[in-house]
Amino acid sequence: MSESKLHLITAESLAEIDLNIAKYPADRKESACMPALRIIQDQNGGWLTNDLMDAVAEHLEMLAMAVYEVATFYSMYEHKPVGRNKISVCTNISCLLNGSEAIVSHLNNKLDIKFGEITEDGKFSLKEVECLGACAGAPMMQIGRDYHENLTPEKIDEVLQQERVAIAAEALK
Ligand code: FES
Repeated sequence: MSESKLHLITAESLAEIDLNIAKYPADRKESACMPALRIIQDQNGGWLTNDLMDAVAEHLEMLAMAVYEVATFYSMYEHKPVGRNKISVCTNISCLLNGSEAIVSHLNNKLDIKFGEITEDGKFSLKEVECLGACAGAPMMQIGRDYHENLTPEKIDEVLQQERVAIAAEALK
């Protein structure tokens, strides 16, 4: 039997995961897999390691492979480090038809990074994603849990400035 990885989950994360497990029948702990992965990803600064996925599998009494399948299927889970703010830009059909190429280009220039990269100061990373279900507000991007829709270069500049201010304020706490 392999070594337990449960110690990698903090008490705070464990309590939050258990709140999610309690929403489902006792014999359906695996139903909490997606929130558990999100919680553990947040705990680790925005990305998952194999050991952390193993810990989730152990706590939910699932096969590690089943957890890996979920974690590699959905684009909100990361498997390498990301910036303090992960910017997910939709380039799917509605966003493409409404100018996502110009949005991506503006972000590339403004942050001096491409998809899959992190800014030198670690504050932002850029990710290309499929439709995020906000087609009526195309073109759009997601930062953290917030959606920013009907994007223009000016609106992007405003949002980035707000995020920088928020990061600076957090650093002063
Ligand atoms: Fe971009 Fe749907 S196509 S949110």
